[in-house]
Amino acid sequence: MKFQKPKGTKDILPKDTWKWHYVEKTIQEVMSLYNFGEIRVPTFEYTELFKRGVGTETDIVGKEMYTFLDKNGDSLTLRPEGTASVMRSYLENGLGGVNPIHKMYYITNMFRYEKPQAGRYREHTQFGAEIIGSSSYLADVEVILLAKEVFNRLGIMNFRLKINSIGKPEERKNYINTLKEYLNSHIEGLSEESKKRIDTNTLRVLDSKNPADKAITDNAPKILDSLTAESRERFDNVLNELARLGVDFEVDYRVVRGLDYYSDTTFEFLSESLGAQDAIGGGGRYDGLVEQLGGKPTPGIGFGSGIERVIMVAEANGFTFGEQAVPFIFFASFGEEARTKAYELMIALRKANVACECDLLDRSFKAQMREANRLGAKYVCILGEDELKKGTVMLKNMANSAQEEVPFDKIMERAV
Ligand code: HAM
Repeated sequence: MKFQKPKGTKDILPKDTWKWHYVEKTIQEVMSLYNFGEIRVPTFEYTELFKRGVGTETDIVGKEMYTFLDKNGDSLTLRPEGTASVMRSYLENGLGGVNPIHKMYYITNMFRYEKPQAGRYREHTQFGAEIIGSSSYLADVEVILLAKEVFNRLGIMNFRLKINSIGKPEERKNYINTLKEYLNSHIEGLSEESKKRIDTNTLRVLDSKNPADKAITDNAPKILDSLTAESRERFDNVLNELARLGVDFEVDYRVVRGLDYYSDTTFEFLSESLGAQDAIGGGGRYDGLVEQLGGKPTPGIGFGSGIERVIMVAEANGFTFGEQAVPFIFFASFGEEARTKAYELMIALRKANVACECDLLDRSFKAQMREANRLGAKYVCILGEDELKKGTVMLKNMANSAQEEVPFDKIMERAV
């Protein structure tokens, strides 16, 4: 029987993991620069958390969760997103009482039962960041700048930042009624999916990709016109600050996001290097979420970004991810004794942080040299019976083929 990985998952092989390391390191560096601390939460949570936090009518909760009963009969769910878990942890650990503001990030896998396609997986990896406790518009700007900085450092400049405000719950409620009325008066032209959403998740009709839906929603009432002066001013502050800092953006009323916890600012980063799944990141404010999960009213804002998509865009841009680590010195030896000595020398060099490799397949000398070449080793230490007697190796510089005899204890000094 031949096993295959489950649909929508992926293997990342060593020939590619080094790129992931580079991306993860870049994320960690930028997070440190912005003073975000890493949070790690469980892979699964009680299902109720996501129902309560993300919303039962959302696609994520309604259709896409990996939910199961454990042996105790408890309903658990593999996390489909990070924000609800982070808020649960914030509350459970009483972080609000420790400090009025928390800036946290995560790099972790998420599980959604979606239809797999290019850039869309059933298990994807997301990096995300949350600022909990601040309602300042500068916090909105901070998470946008943070995401942008990570993208930029990975050679991604070609994205569009779309931004919107979906207002406070009251404003949104009124707007949704107006929108429902409008959509019902055009119901014959809408797709079946959007017809269903009018009552269950009205705002999502606005981000339908169906051309007929789009034509109808082009002329729909706009949420920005339903905001109070206060919310509008808040949104303008975000926009003005972004503009002042030279961040390009487009205000787009269709950016309503697919999760229920959002309020006020919502945004998405889109890349044309991706196909239909063009969002490299998205986020927004969620001022009601902590309260929704049983805490005191606490403002929050954050974003999440799919690393698979980020790597796809970076690669499409020709980004090189630094250099793949290769063994610095390869030991090519012949004869049992030389082989053992080579191994001993190699271990000492590794202890001194010099990356080394030797042959573990009993290959011929020629085959060992071929392997050193294939691996891209900078130097080869050749060790045979003669060298062994003299206490030396023949050190070959692979770049220019220059060779010199070097005593055992001088290898590190000469290989530079
Ligand atoms: P989201 O928009 O659902 O937001 O996901 C964030 C990002 O994760 C997307 O923009 C996309 O890059 C990536 N992504 C999502 N689903 C998939 C998938 N099936 N395959 C590959 N990549 C995917 C959230 O999850 C929110 N928790 C973000 C957030 C944090 N909002 C506030 N704080």
